[in-house]
Amino acid sequence: MEGFRVIGGEKIRGKARVQSAKNAVLPILAAAILPEGEIVIRDCPDIRDVYAMAGILGKLGCACQWNAGKMRIDPAGLHHWEMPDELSKQIRSSIFLLGPILGRLRRATVTYPGGCEIGIRPIDLHLKGLRALGVSIVEDGGVIYCDGMSMRAGDVYFDYPSVGATENVMMAAALLPGVTTVHNAAREPEVIDLQDFINAMGGRVRGAGTQLIEIEGVKALHGADYTPIPDRIAAGTLLCAAAMTGGEIELTNVRPWDLVPVCDKLREMGCRVIDGRSTVALAAPERLRAFSQLQTNPHPGFPTDMQAQMLAAACVAEGTSVIVENVFENRLTHVADLCRMGADIRVNGRTAVVTGVPGLHGMTVSARDLRGGAALVLAALAAKGESTVEHIELVDRGYERLEETLTALGGKIFRVQR
Ligand code: EPZ
Repeated sequence: MEGFRVIGGEKIRGKARVQSAKNAVLPILAAAILPEGEIVIRDCPDIRDVYAMAGILGKLGCACQWNAGKMRIDPAGLHHWEMPDELSKQIRSSIFLLGPILGRLRRATVTYPGGCEIGIRPIDLHLKGLRALGVSIVEDGGVIYCDGMSMRAGDVYFDYPSVGATENVMMAAALLPGVTTVHNAAREPEVIDLQDFINAMGGRVRGAGTQLIEIEGVKALHGADYTPIPDRIAAGTLLCAAAMTGGEIELTNVRPWDLVPVCDKLREMGCRVIDGRSTVALAAPERLRAFSQLQTNPHPGFPTDMQAQMLAAACVAEGTSVIVENVFENRLTHVADLCRMGADIRVNGRTAVVTGVPGLHGMTVSARDLRGGAALVLAALAAKGESTVEHIELVDRGYERLEETLTALGGKIFRVQR
């Protein structure tokens, strides 16, 4: 098992280029099985979840080749519609393959991807969306048998704007004759990126970014060469690192409009944040101020994937901050270890009340999920003394060599065997 050894107290400052978005690339990799030609994904992030997804595609018959930041996918060999349990369980995002497998082969067998550290992660909305497209679905003993032989365009309404369920329907409908509509669709930037990718393959999707998406099925999709959007969560994480250590940072390869809720909160905490066309620059105050409250919500609300990092920032801010996690039922797993580092946090259900302390102290802590682990790294950078963050394989799921990025920005952080 690997860990990060961190010697806190160094300011995070300098310039860094932000990686492409994990949560854009994963559905794009799933959609890459739809066309009749080869797909090239440029600037593909070098992260564990991408490798896991590429491995699943390989097992389904789609050759994937990684070369110098480019991922090549040849979907011609797709012949398996069954996704065995050991594949489904590898990463939760395997469920994103359900729609495209049905779109291509009209049949699919998957198992429940299972919950993770942040929640039970049901897939009822995914199945509701596919049933609205005429897919007959039988669930038996944890296995989901899907028959899409009579699939057709349909009208889908989501009780909750689920990102994955929206993306699954977009991919399932891309090759279906007729126009499929998705009402109360997720509006995240990564959903727009999936629309742009499908359209780059010759698809006809419109409305992504609004609550109504229309997918006009086409007869076939062709290959494409595509660069995903930058990772707004990786960007926000680096901004928090500078904010918490009294540093100064300039990020390139970012889309400032994707960071509005995060930069608004950081400004409320006393940071100076300047947006460029594809850059964001932040200068931290001597000491952060508490934000009054932070509520996570579907986009354009505050992104749940930045909650843990902002909670860590609140731990060292002057004053009391209130954080409410509205999206996932168990996404405060990082609180216990932050308290062991000296933070003053009270949790009641999905609400955390954080009273800032003058400083944290180094400690050995454990990542329990991707973003909670990132938050512990930020706390360790800001703490006095040495920390070890264990189970950083969870952090590697979504951040490209985080220790290298932070070292280049002045942080003292080393990857160690535990
Ligand atoms: C995507 O997950 C992201 N993952 C998550 O990022 C992100 O936190 C989430 O969207 C919300 O923005 C990827 O894109 C790979 P949801 P997804 O379906 O699609 C409930 C990270 O750290 N729900 O919008 O699974 C669900 O339980 C990860 O990068 C149902 O009830 O999110 C949750 O409470 C974590 N039934 C809420 O909706 C369903 O069928 C939001 O889930 C589906 C979801």
